[in-house]
Amino acid sequence: MYLKLLASTVVFTLFILFVKAQPSVASTPPMGWNSWNLFEEEVSEKLVKQIADAMVNSGMAGTGYQYLVIDDFWVGGRNAKNELFPDPVRFPNGMKVLADYVHSKGLKLGIYSDAAALTCGGVTGSYDFEEQDAATFAAWGIDYLKYDYCNAPDDMVSAFARYKKMGDALHKTNRPIVYSICEWGQRQPWLWAKAAGGNLWRTTWDMRDTWLSNEYNAGHNGIINTIDKQNGLEKYAGPGGWNDPDLLVTGLFGKGKSSSLNGRYTGCTLTEYRSQFALWCMLAAPLMVNLDIRNIDSSIKAILLNKDLIAIDQDALGSQASVIYNQNDLEIFKKELSGDRYAICILNRSAENKTFSFSTGSDFKLHGQWMVHEIFTNKRLRSVKKAEGKINAHDCVVYVLNATDASE
Ligand code: GLA
Repeated sequence: MYLKLLASTVVFTLFILFVKAQPSVASTPPMGWNSWNLFEEEVSEKLVKQIADAMVNSGMAGTGYQYLVIDDFWVGGRNAKNELFPDPVRFPNGMKVLADYVHSKGLKLGIYSDAAALTCGGVTGSYDFEEQDAATFAAWGIDYLKYDYCNAPDDMVSAFARYKKMGDALHKTNRPIVYSICEWGQRQPWLWAKAAGGNLWRTTWDMRDTWLSNEYNAGHNGIINTIDKQNGLEKYAGPGGWNDPDLLVTGLFGKGKSSSLNGRYTGCTLTEYRSQFALWCMLAAPLMVNLDIRNIDSSIKAILLNKDLIAIDQDALGSQASVIYNQNDLEIFKKELSGDRYAICILNRSAENKTFSFSTGSDFKLHGQWMVHEIFTNKRLRSVKKAEGKINAHDCVVYVLNATDASE
């Protein structure tokens, strides 16, 4: 009897430890759509419903895109009880009705607020109303909160306190809500965001629709600037907490108001968009698209629905790629995957086509023999010891190396 009791206590304790060890949300990087870059103030119930339909019809929902995040400008104000309410013209039936619709499609709804009295766009934020707003979001059925930091104090201590206050408030609702911290990497959020309850934290300024910008410090960052800023942050990423290099500009072609800086950046090439997507997957980054998925062309769809790349991003191990080589504009990223596998990405940073020849042993530090899957050509090779070929300007090559198959 005593032994039976002891055994069941041990099993129960192990179960609790297991449950605790499994993050309830964001066990893999969140995937979805965000309204900001393309639609800015034009968010509405009608738009979000159409995007939800398109998410399903385009096949994106089937490959893992799940969260529809309404960014800034949805707020109407606070009522007499201090409850937030949405802009009545844009969201005439309220957020609960919209959340129900989104859920009926098998998707999840995200929303935006700010750790100050006003958001970046100047509408009502959540400062001093954290518990009430978190309860409101939970009652509406919100599944994701992006929490911005405009109009808030500069220092890290205040940022932590403000983010933790909302983190605790979300936790108190008992609803699984992904908590996305957005202070642009200015106060090293990778050091404290998890302790504030965060599941992802922006590492950079807003993503612009360009390959490389020389004005990072003025808040302009292109794909390459953003990738470089992730270097060294890989140890902070893992199930339940991710570095967030911001949105995928893939497919915007200069159309996003914010990402183009009102037309200043005219967009990227298809090759560059594919490289952004591949690198975001290597970096275990959240995959949040911004384009109008109601009208998505087949070449962009082929990038965003690439199941092999998405599997790299969503791998259960949750490890973020590290740079293992960077010379003459060829950069190699290595990401450990579950099941004794690795992903390798070789990026040509330069505007010239290049040839490459790397050894799996001395360059990739993957000794022994490997079964190699080259993702873009879908070629599978056995017992490979060298990776060689051509790589176009701003393009990349991605391999998955599988040790299990090497002995076959
Ligand atoms: C900040 C954020 C953006 C977006 C806007 C909304 O700039 O970094 O991602 O949310 O605010 O105003």
